[in-house]
Amino acid sequence: METLVCKNITKSYEKGKKALDRLSFSVPAKGILAVIGRNGAGKTTLMRILATELMPSSGTATMNGIDVVKDAVKMREMIAVLPQESRAVNWMTPLQTILSYLMYRGMDYSEAREKAHEALAGIGMTKLEKTLNSKLSGGQKRKVLVASILASDAPIIFVDEPTTGLDPISRSELWDMLKRLKKTHFVFLTTHYLEEAEKLADTICIIDEGKLKGIGTLGEIRKLVKYQYSIKILEKGKKVKINEGEEVTGEDGFAQIMTTEKEADRLSSRFIKEKVRFSINPMSLEDIFYYVVKKPINAEEEAKDYGTWF
Ligand SMILES: Nc1ncnc2c1ncn2[C@@H]1O[C@H](COP(=O)(O)OP(=O)(O)OP(=O)(O)O)[C@@H](O)[C@H]1O
Ligand SMILES: [Mg+2]
Repeated sequence: METLVCKNITKSYEKGKKALDRLSFSVPAKGILAVIGRNGAGKTTLMRILATELMPSSGTATMNGIDVVKDAVKMREMIAVLPQESRAVNWMTPLQTILSYLMYRGMDYSEAREKAHEALAGIGMTKLEKTLNSKLSGGQKRKVLVASILASDAPIIFVDEPTTGLDPISRSELWDMLKRLKKTHFVFLTTHYLEEAEKLADTICIIDEGKLKGIGTLGEIRKLVKYQYSIKILEKGKKVKINEGEEVTGEDGFAQIMTTEKEADRLSSRFIKEKVRFSINPMSLEDIFYYVVKKPINAEEEAKDYGTWF
C-alpha cells in the first residue's frame, strides 16, 4: 500500500486567503515525487502538512495508510525532513552535523558514527569530515545536510528546494545523491528547476495558486497539453499566422507557438526560407509548466539551452 493520498487538503493561514485549495490526488509513494510551482504556489505548505508540521484547515492525507494528522506520531517515525531554509551550522564539522542529527533522531552513538562515515564517503567528503562547515562551499554544505537525512533510517524523505542556488556541478552531484536515495526511499521533492523534475521524478505535481494543476508521470503530464512542439520566435513583435496551435507572448515580447508536428514542420520550413530566427523543440516540462500556469517562457533563455536555428 505504498500510496500518498490527499483528499480536499485546504490550508488558510489568514482568513479568506487559501494557500492550498482542495488538493485531491492519489499517487504511488515510491521513487521521487517532484512538486513544482511558482513562488507562493503552496509547495512548502503541502510538504509541511504531509510532514506533520502543519495542520490542514480541512481535508485528509494518508501516506501508506497512515493519517498525517491522526497518526502524526507514527508518521514522524517514518520521515526525515530537510526544510527550505535549513543551513549547516558554521561552527560544526560535517561529521558532527550528521552525527548530531542521527543521535537527535534516537540512533546510538556507535551506529550514528558508522552511518555518518558511510554517508560522508558516499558524497566524497571523507577528507573534509573534520573541516568546519564555515569553510565549505555552499554546495558542500547542502550536500552535508542531504547526507544527514540520507543516513537516517527514515524510509520517507522530504526535501524542500535542496538544489536552489547551487552551481550546475553541485546540483548534478546532488541529483546523483537523490537518484541513489530514491531506490530505497520515497522522496518528496520541491524544486524550481523543471529540468530537475524532468530528470529525477517518477511523479510530477504542478501546483499554482494553491490549486492542483496536474499530477502524474511525465507522460501523463504531457497529456495536459494538446500540442507536441514548441517554437520560439526570437524576433520581437514578429507576427505569424498559424493554422493550428496556440500562440502566447512572453513578457519579453517574444512569441511562443505551441503546435502539432505537421504545423511545426510547415512553420519551420517557412522561417528558414524567410531567415526568421527561431528555436524549435518538443514540448519540455518547462513548456508544459508555463502552458499550464499560463505564463509564457523567456525565449532567449530557452534558445541558450536547446540550441537555436537561424
Ligand atoms: N506562515 C505563514 N503565514 C501566512 N501566510 C503564509 C505562511 N506561510 C506561507 N504563507 C502563504 O501561503 C502561500 C503559499 O506559500 P508556500 O510557502 O507554501 O509557497 P511555495 O510554493 O513553497 O513558495 P516558494 O517557491 O517561494 O518557496 C503564499 O501565499 C504565502 O504567502
Ligand atoms: Mg517553498
